[in-house]
Amino acid sequence: MTWIGLVIVCLALVVGRDWLVSTKAAGSFVLKEDGRSGRPAILTARADEESPYIAPYVPTPQEVIDRMLQLAEVRAGDVVYDLGSGDGRIVITAAARYGVKAVGFEIRPDLVKRSRENIKEAGLEHLVEIREEDIRTIDLSPATVVTLYLYPSANLRLRSMIMRQLKPGSRVVSHQFTMGTWKPDQVDQITDSTGIVRTFYLWRITK
Ligand SMILES: C[S@@+](CC[C@H](N)C(=O)[O-])C[C@H]1O[C@@H](n2cnc3c(N)ncnc32)[C@H](O)[C@@H]1O
Repeated sequence: MTWIGLVIVCLALVVGRDWLVSTKAAGSFVLKEDGRSGRPAILTARADEESPYIAPYVPTPQEVIDRMLQLAEVRAGDVVYDLGSGDGRIVITAAARYGVKAVGFEIRPDLVKRSRENIKEAGLEHLVEIREEDIRTIDLSPATVVTLYLYPSANLRLRSMIMRQLKPGSRVVSHQFTMGTWKPDQVDQITDSTGIVRTFYLWRITK
């Protein structure tokens, strides 16, 4: 085996299948694994301005999702939107735990299909929906809670849309990435069970 082959095999073993799928689908992202645990948290990446993919697929662990939804103080009557919903785990958790309506937006058809299967398996089709849409152009106004695990430049792209379209009282929670100069109302941090430090940012819409 050549040294390039060896490097590819090592990368596949260390970072895992999701990284490879993301890289293949998004093409333009180069992720680096977490230095402490070697797990595929999004830490640094390079995005291609031309690509519709504004973040690669890296799923959020369940314990982190639980904390994000707690921080957003999800309650009966909320409508939760997950922007870039991956396999649907955030919207499924919101509906299962809080009984709220939840909508995921995802651009990758394979993930849309997988998340719809997961929703069906969870018996939550009456509460959860996945829309195969580009999050740069969706209508956010029905949402009262927006969750994000994207990428710094992606958050910045969506920021003015979020600020403009969400109603007062709505909450926005971002896993790992800020919104540039838009100061969060709360910052929270946990070390997950694999040793990765996870930071959460909460903004409350007040205008
Ligand atoms: C880091 S993953 C987060 C997945 C899920 N929210 C979670 O936390 O487990 C980001 C997701 O955004 C999706 N995505 C990237 N660009 C998008 C776009 N323009 N419109 C919709 N989804 C997009 C990716 O395919 C990927 O599934």
